[in-house]
Amino acid sequence: MGEAANSLWLSESLVTMLERVIANMPADKVFFEYCAEKNLGSKKRRVLSDHFFRMLREYWQIVFTIGPREPELIVKQFFTNYAQLQKVCVVAPSDSSSRPTAGSLQWRVNMPNDLWVEFLRSFSSPEEIPHEVLGRQTHIDIRVNSFAGFSKSFVMRHLCAKGMIVKDLPFTNGLRLTKRMAGIVRLPLYKQGAFELQDWGSQIVTKIAAASIADTSRAEGLRILDYCAGAGGKSLALLDNLPMIRIEELVLADINEARLANAQRRFYRIAATQSGPQTADEPVDKPLVEERFCDKWQDHSRKPVRLDSKSNCCGLEHYIRENVSFRHVDSLQPNETFGLVLVDAPCSGTGTLIRNPWLTIQLDKAQIHQDQRTQLEILQKAAKFVVEGGVLVYITCSLLKSENADVIELFLRNNYFVNGAFELIDIPQLYSEPRKNPSELRGNPDFRGSSYSWQKFLSPLMSGKYVRIFPSALETSGFFMAMLRKL
Ligand SMILES: C[S@@+](CC[C@H](N)C(=O)[O-])C[C@H]1O[C@@H](n2cnc3c(N)ncnc32)[C@H](O)[C@@H]1O
Repeated sequence: MGEAANSLWLSESLVTMLERVIANMPADKVFFEYCAEKNLGSKKRRVLSDHFFRMLREYWQIVFTIGPREPELIVKQFFTNYAQLQKVCVVAPSDSSSRPTAGSLQWRVNMPNDLWVEFLRSFSSPEEIPHEVLGRQTHIDIRVNSFAGFSKSFVMRHLCAKGMIVKDLPFTNGLRLTKRMAGIVRLPLYKQGAFELQDWGSQIVTKIAAASIADTSRAEGLRILDYCAGAGGKSLALLDNLPMIRIEELVLADINEARLANAQRRFYRIAATQSGPQTADEPVDKPLVEERFCDKWQDHSRKPVRLDSKSNCCGLEHYIRENVSFRHVDSLQPNETFGLVLVDAPCSGTGTLIRNPWLTIQLDKAQIHQDQRTQLEILQKAAKFVVEGGVLVYITCSLLKSENADVIELFLRNNYFVNGAFELIDIPQLYSEPRKNPSELRGNPDFRGSSYSWQKFLSPLMSGKYVRIFPSALETSGFFMAMLRKL
């Protein structure tokens, strides 16, 4: 193909794909569907991916320059050299008063006005706004499924043997692969349930949430409700972080049946594949499960542990089938109560801009306000299921105050009349004060004994009574977490 035809193909492709992003499709999906539709080979895919994702990162800078949000003009301008951008405007810029100046912080972080105003409200000064939202994340984080019998060192050894560069992520069962590996989910080790792809920030907030209940309901067993369970990422991490507690029941609930089905597949994959036969093309050293981890499931299986048993060596499959359920939120009964209710609410996703820069194209003021209404509504519904003395955890991957602290304040102001009172748990205090009884945190080895060593690691993540993880701190997505106790 000649150069002209090539660039025509590229710009036409970019226009079509941009139209789809503007119509609210996630950019990754747009890319993969388009490549499949056009049956593109690997070389063309690479060229298209480079241009498409770079254009999305520069989207607002281009719009600020040319004015209208017309895909054809945006693509044309994208191909124009930035040095000349000011002179070669394709269209006379409209409404110049509301455009940020080139090179300003808003310009550099590539954000529309409405979103920028929300960002300014969310940080005490513009300098605090993490510029990393601009950046490009090249690593991938995974969490080792220790509850299924896999250890970090075991998984690390296998991944290193595959030539990957693997970094240990403290505080959690996390590992960081310093180079993105497209085929990671095709590894036999993944298929066998040894690890999940999960951002380290997400692992950290889940672990802190688990610590809040590590001391409760030990004798009678704990019931947990993951109210916005999605594909079950947080629930799986919870299982990993409550090793000493008998979780009597874990309910994954969502309004989206397809996501729940996906969560169920993930749980059953972990449960079943340990004992299932390996296929010839997926050789993995045996035993997959290290012996020392197996005893903890004996209680549930009430069967002797046999590493090479075809009937699931750890009783995990039995445990999951008996104790974990996947339910539409509407099927929850008003009289059901849980010691821990987790609300990982749908949000703007502004904490994930580093991975999903295209989100700014789809966010506007109306959407941000709508998100807040939805979050408050979900929190109020979920709160009804918290048992007295139980904990309600609210998590978002948003950096915006309107979806985080504002929602909690609105909830606390209104909830008393709806459903009994809640008090905000001072999360930093969970770590900073010597507990009356250090064994309270015994459920989790990292909080044991002299223990408060994690305080230094955690204190930069604390903000007032909340946890706020900025992408800049740990090279993760951004997260917010609040914990409330029902009085
Ligand atoms: C941020 S995602 C959850 C991700 C999941 N917790 C994980 O770690 O993989 C938010 C989820 O909330 C669900 N959701 C949206 N509106 C809801 C509602 N009214 N009630 C319950 N779940 C809802 C969405 O379907 C989505 O799966």
